[in-house]
Amino acid sequence: TPLSRIRNFAIIAHIDHGKSTLADRLIEACGALSDREMKDQVLDNMEIERERGITIKAQTVRLTYPARDGNTYVLNLMDTPGHVDFAYEVSRSLAACEGSLLVVDASQGVEAQTLANVYQAIEAGHEIVPVLNKIDLPAADPDRVKVQIEEVIGLPADDAVLISAKTGLGIGEVLEALVARLPPPKGDAEAPTKALLVDSWYDSYLGVVILVRVKDGRLRRGQRIRFMATGAVHTVEAVGVFTPKMVTVDDLGPGEMGYIIAGIKTVADCSVGDTITDDRSPAAEPLPGFKPSVPVVWCGLYPTDADDFEKLRESLAKLRLNDASFHYEPEISAALGFGFRCGFLGLLHLEIVQERLAREFGLDLIATAPSVVYRIHTTRGEVKELHNPADMPDPSTIDHIEEPWIKATIFVPDEYLGGVLTLCNERRGQQVDLTYVGNRAMAVYRLPLNEVVFDFYDRLKSISRGYASFDYAMDGYAESDLVKISILVNGDPVDALAFIAHRSQAEKRGRAICEKLKELIPRQLFKIAIQAAIGSRIIARETIGALAKDVTAKCYGGDITRKRKLLEKQKEGKKRMRQFGKVEIPQTAFLAALKMD
Ligand code: GTP
Repeated sequence: TPLSRIRNFAIIAHIDHGKSTLADRLIEACGALSDREMKDQVLDNMEIERERGITIKAQTVRLTYPARDGNTYVLNLMDTPGHVDFAYEVSRSLAACEGSLLVVDASQGVEAQTLANVYQAIEAGHEIVPVLNKIDLPAADPDRVKVQIEEVIGLPADDAVLISAKTGLGIGEVLEALVARLPPPKGDAEAPTKALLVDSWYDSYLGVVILVRVKDGRLRRGQRIRFMATGAVHTVEAVGVFTPKMVTVDDLGPGEMGYIIAGIKTVADCSVGDTITDDRSPAAEPLPGFKPSVPVVWCGLYPTDADDFEKLRESLAKLRLNDASFHYEPEISAALGFGFRCGFLGLLHLEIVQERLAREFGLDLIATAPSVVYRIHTTRGEVKELHNPADMPDPSTIDHIEEPWIKATIFVPDEYLGGVLTLCNERRGQQVDLTYVGNRAMAVYRLPLNEVVFDFYDRLKSISRGYASFDYAMDGYAESDLVKISILVNGDPVDALAFIAHRSQAEKRGRAICEKLKELIPRQLFKIAIQAAIGSRIIARETIGALAKDVTAKCYGGDITRKRKLLEKQKEGKKRMRQFGKVEIPQTAFLAALKMD
C-alpha cells in the first residue's frame, strides 16, 4: 500500500465514553467481519481475553475503507486503555500512530482522562479529530461540549463529528474525517529496516507475538532481524496483520502495523519501545523509543505454598512479557519466606496482576502491604531508594526522607466540590488551581502519592456519587516527616505488614489497621494481641478473644447442612491463611489492611 493511502490512528477517551463501541462500528462499517463473525469474533475475542488475559491492551485492527474520493484506504486502528494506571500503555499506542479520534460523551462532557489522553496525543504530535458520541441521548448537549473542548483543552471543535456509536449515526463521517484530516505516515521503503516494537505477548500456541509499526524498510518472512536495544538476533517465521483475525501477509512496509513471530523464547529479548532492524544491513540509529515506565507502587508477592516458588517465577516472567510496565525482583521476608518484590503503575494494576496470577496461573499468593518508593538520604550523604518499608534503615543513620508527590486533576460537579476539597486537605493536599467550566469545577492539587495510592479513587467516587473524574501525573519528590509503623502480632513484628506514614497520620493509621486486622483475623484458640508501634513505642492495640474449640458446637442437633457449611467455610479459610508464629492471618488482610474507610 502506498503511504498516501494509509492512516494510522488511536481512539482516546475517558472511561465509558464509547471507545469500544465506536471501534466495533468502524470494524462493522468496513466489512472486516461478516454479520455472523461480527458476533462470533467479538465474543471469541473476549473469551480468549478472559482466559489468557492477553490482547486486552494494545488492540490493533487493519481496516480497508473505500472512501468517497474513489480511493481505497488502509486504516490501522489502535485501541487504548482508559484507566489512569495505564497511561503508559496509551503513550505506547500513540507513538505508533499519526492521529487520534478524541471521543467525548456529548451528555457528559470533558472528563479528567479526556484531558490526560488528549495532552498525550498532542505531545505525540498527533492530528486530533474530536468526535462527540451518544448524541442519541436526550441529555446530549453537543454545543456545550464543543465549547468545553475549546475552553478546557484549547482544541478547535467547530468541525467535531457528531455521532451515536450505538445507532451507527455519523460513522461514515468519522471514516471520511480520518482520511481527509489525518496525515499519512512517512517512511522510506528503500532505507534499512526500522520498526517500533509496540507490544508483545506470550501465546501458548504461537510463542511470543510481537506487535510492530514499521517506519522504514520492510519486515518479511525469513529475514534475520536484530533488536537494537538488547542486540538479540532472530529469524522472522511469520508476518501478519489483525483484521481483527490474525492473517498472514508477505511483508510489512513503511507506515504499516502488524505482528511478527520469530521463534522467541526469552522474555528479556522483547523490550517494548525497542527498534527492530535488519541484521545484515542495520539502521544506523534506533527510533526514539518510549520513556521507560516507572513503577510507583511496590509490594511483595509470596506463594502460600513454598513449593510454588518456581512456578511463581515462571509465571511472573510470562506476565512481564505481556505487560512491560510490571517489574519484579526476588525478595526474602522473615515472615513469608522466598518471594518477589513487584512494582506496579498503581493499585488497580496491582490488583489485576494478582488476579491474573491467581486465575491464569492457578497461584495462591499473599501480597504484602503496598508501598510507594521513598528516597532515604543517609547521614553519610548517600541516597537510597526504599521499595519495602521493612528495609527502612535505622533512624539514627537517616538524615532525611523524601516522598513522591503527584499533581492531580479532578473534575467534579459543583454540589460535591466541598467534600472533594475536604478529602484533598485530609490527604495533605495543596491546592494549585480551582476553575469552573459551566457547573463543574476543575480542581488541581498537589498530593503525596502515598495518600492517593491506596483508596483515594474509591473515596473520591463515593463522595461524588461517581461523578468525579480523576487523573494524575508524578510531580517530583519532597522532604517529609515520615515514620515506619510496625505491626506486631502477639509481640512478633510481621514484616509484611509494616508501612510508612506521615508522622501526623501515624497514630490514626496504626489504630485503623489494628481495628481492621481485628475484623479480618478470625478468632483462634488463644487470645491474640495486635499492636502498632513506631520503634519501641506502642501507638495502638487491639485484642482478639479466644475461640470456643468447636465451631459447630453452637448448632445443636438437626441442622446438618448448616454444620457442613460452617466446616467448609472454615476449610476454605484455612487454604488462604498464613501462619505467623502460632497465629493464622488470612491472605486478604494484607491488602485490605491499608484501605482506609
Ligand atoms: P472502557 O472500555 O471501559 O474505557 O469504555 P469505552 O469508552 O470503551 O466505552 P464503551 O464502548 O464500553 O461504552 C460505554 C457504555 O456507553 C456502554 O454501555 C455503551 O453501550 C454505551 N454507549 C456507547 N456509545 C453510545 C451511544 O452512542 N449512545 C448511547 N446511548 N450509549 C452508548
